[in-house]
Amino acid sequence: RSTLFPYTTLFRSLELIYPRSFRDLNGDGVGDLNGITLKMDYLSDLGVDAIWISPFFTSPMTDLGYDVADYQNVDPVFGGLDDFRMLLDEAHARDIKVMIDLVPCHTSDQHPWFVESRSGRDNPKRDWYVWRDGNDGHEPNNWVSLAGGKSWTFDADSGQYYLHSFLPTQPDLNWDNPEVRLAIKDVVRFWFDMGVDGMRVDAIWGISKDPELRDDTVNYDFHGDSNSYGAYIHDHCKHGPHFQEYLHELASVCDEYDDKQMVFEFYPDERLGDIWRQYHDVIHVHPKATAFFMEHRQNDWHGEHTGWNIMNYLEATGENTPFFCLGNHDQPRVTSRLGLPRSRALQFLNLLCPGVSVMYYGDEIGMEDVDLTQHDAQDGFHHSLQDDRNRARTPMQWNSSRYAGFANVLPWLPVHPNRKQVNVAKETKDPGSLLWLCRKLLELRHELPILRHGTMEKLDTGNGFVLGFRRQLDGQQLQIYINFADSAQTVWLPETGRVIIGTNPDIHVDGDVLQLPGYGGVLIDIK
Ligand code: NOJ
Repeated sequence: RSTLFPYTTLFRSLELIYPRSFRDLNGDGVGDLNGITLKMDYLSDLGVDAIWISPFFTSPMTDLGYDVADYQNVDPVFGGLDDFRMLLDEAHARDIKVMIDLVPCHTSDQHPWFVESRSGRDNPKRDWYVWRDGNDGHEPNNWVSLAGGKSWTFDADSGQYYLHSFLPTQPDLNWDNPEVRLAIKDVVRFWFDMGVDGMRVDAIWGISKDPELRDDTVNYDFHGDSNSYGAYIHDHCKHGPHFQEYLHELASVCDEYDDKQMVFEFYPDERLGDIWRQYHDVIHVHPKATAFFMEHRQNDWHGEHTGWNIMNYLEATGENTPFFCLGNHDQPRVTSRLGLPRSRALQFLNLLCPGVSVMYYGDEIGMEDVDLTQHDAQDGFHHSLQDDRNRARTPMQWNSSRYAGFANVLPWLPVHPNRKQVNVAKETKDPGSLLWLCRKLLELRHELPILRHGTMEKLDTGNGFVLGFRRQLDGQQLQIYINFADSAQTVWLPETGRVIIGTNPDIHVDGDVLQLPGYGGVLIDIK
């Protein structure tokens, strides 16, 4: 990509906070909003200029907050609305923007809208959700849920099935009903009026469905359980005819304000065509909306693939803001996926990419997934402990104490046994730590506009193990090199330059020769 990134982003970096696991202040073993406020100086010293807090709204917690029972209130486990206002003030006082999670496509089955809707076929809210008669005593169609099992649950009282793309406790809202669209836009306004700066928008792919609710195509390449998600090609249950239109309508609420941002949670589906075209179509629904880059989650540790994924995503974002991330609360942690040396290299690259760099809380210190036992709290989506998403949601490791400084009582999930080596207190004192490196890189993102706005071009490094990029802005040029091999590699630079920062302290340039240690990365200022 050779043109500049003209957008003005509200921020350059973002930490995703899973509120149950950041800091428990009220002594119940579950993190809370006041805990986040208490740690605002940590976030400010880290150097992020925005946070995204995953759902803290009133919820029965069958999906730990992604089952919302009141969009405009705080669940008592996290605090109250005044606590949130205080969090917002404290963040803004430090120039940290606050994004929250909007879950527009489903509610909890305890939400008053659904309680009304299920109360009878004639209820005015019946059509706010998707209700259908059975098909010869079976579900209305073959759709399956991402949380496992069929997407339909029978309601004996009213004799119909309701649709849920996730758990049965998360009925899908019917976006074809204009009243639903108005109600959700009012939720956005409620939080924007309070001063929230942006929304991460959950699970948008199902916002529009096939109006005829036709069966999804059977995936004959799949040989497992026919109720698994992989058993179908999802050509009818999502990406319906009003997909972009509804997203545009939702994002247009940003136009009523000067400085609001939306970022969609979107995983392109390679069975539905070119994934970059899908990214492009979602990102371009509105200038103030965009979609996260999700491709690192399945990183096959291949320099060329990684490089082209980044370039293709930048091509797809065009003039909209790229949001680069390595994972989130639904994925295994990057350090568990790749191991620390590779994770360090990829985090280095992530923090040097244009637009916004996103970090999942704890990744900046190299936190890893925990092995859960049957006694630990489990995520309702997966039936194997190995795949349980809670493995990546364990308490933030602030120090080496028994509960890692997260709580004074037994936390809701176990603390990782590596807390004595991997924690904020220890890494703050160690110039060789990942935390130290992340802080330095975040400082550079503040200092150097080129990192946010400069062009990004892939370089041919002449070494298949080494990925290289050129960044340019107003006559300044930086080059980034990442060694994907575990052994030292040499690269002949197209221009000579000076090392600004490296993953390791001893990386230097000798004339036009760059020696990179295994999994080493470097940022070079070209003279
Ligand atoms: C995506 C969220 O990130 C995930 O945690 C949640 O379970 C689903 N959407 C359903 O809301």
